[in-house]
Amino acid sequence: MCEPMKIAIASDHAALDLKAELREWLIELGHEVADLGPDTAESVDYPDYGYKIADVVAEGTVERGVALCGSGLGISIAANRNPAVRCAMVSEPLSATFARSHNDANMIAMGARIIGPEMAKACIAAFLNTEFEGGRHQRRVDKLSNPS
Ligand code: RB5
Repeated sequence: MCEPMKIAIASDHAALDLKAELREWLIELGHEVADLGPDTAESVDYPDYGYKIADVVAEGTVERGVALCGSGLGISIAANRNPAVRCAMVSEPLSATFARSHNDANMIAMGARIIGPEMAKACIAAFLNTEFEGGRHQRRVDKLSNPS
């Protein structure tokens, strides 16, 4: 397993229970986890939490972000509107591995209505334990920050 990291986690109401389980699991693994909410099951809007977690990842307050909503789609779209964020929406670990090795993803998003906690943990493990390969991928990742 990787060295302990600072990891932010956020969701909307649809992924509240998954967020709690993943937060406790990450803490058990020794990571420092910032839970950006929400704290209750009250209905919220996923863009608010997608922007919030994208901000702390972009600022470098945390090294990685885990964003959750019902499908994983809405919160990933919101997070990716921050140009410093590369958020990969994943449902299985191979995609999470490529998100790191080829895309240098600094966030992943997952859907609580799509996958269960064990698959989500496998995705996070791949996301945290895979290094960016650099090389030809660096040029492509650089272009993501400079669309023209
Ligand atoms: C909330 O009902 C749902 O739309 C949200 O969790 C997410 O799936 C959006 O992409």
